[in-house]
Amino acid sequence: MDLVQQVKDLCSGETSIIRIYEGAADTIFEAAPRYNWVGIYVVEGGDLALAAWRGTQPTEHTRIPLSQGVCGFAATKGESVVVDDVNADPRYLACFASTRSEIVVPIKYEGEVVAEIDIDSDELAAFGDEDQKSLEEAAEVIGRRIGQLKR
Ligand code: SME
Repeated sequence: MDLVQQVKDLCSGETSIIRIYEGAADTIFEAAPRYNWVGIYVVEGGDLALAAWRGTQPTEHTRIPLSQGVCGFAATKGESVVVDDVNADPRYLACFASTRSEIVVPIKYEGEVVAEIDIDSDELAAFGDEDQKSLEEAAEVIGRRIGQLKR
């Protein structure tokens, strides 16, 4: 089953926001072997706080100010950011020595960024248009569900 359908199924059967974030991290991590670390950060005041993650190692970046990192940039812009080579991007906050590329996709409801999906890959330029498209669709499904549950 494709990623977006799996996220739809997860969201339709789940009423706990944290379990949606945990389930989404699991589902996305399993979607492709090149997705080596997946985190869901939520916006809390002026920071991004790590709500759920999947991967082999924990990150030291459990709170990231909105003014920092590729994560902060994507949340502030409200747009996905793809970094083909993290070592060539001055915004990049290093987590894992093995990471070569990264994608960050905002999760919004009512136009406001409430969370984001952050994926690190050990491969250079691991995230293409198809990855971005399906992750953005998944983020839209998650955002819509979070909005319903917060009401
Ligand atoms: N690399 C991110 C920080 C989070 S770690 O990848 C888990 C960034 O530049 O914002």
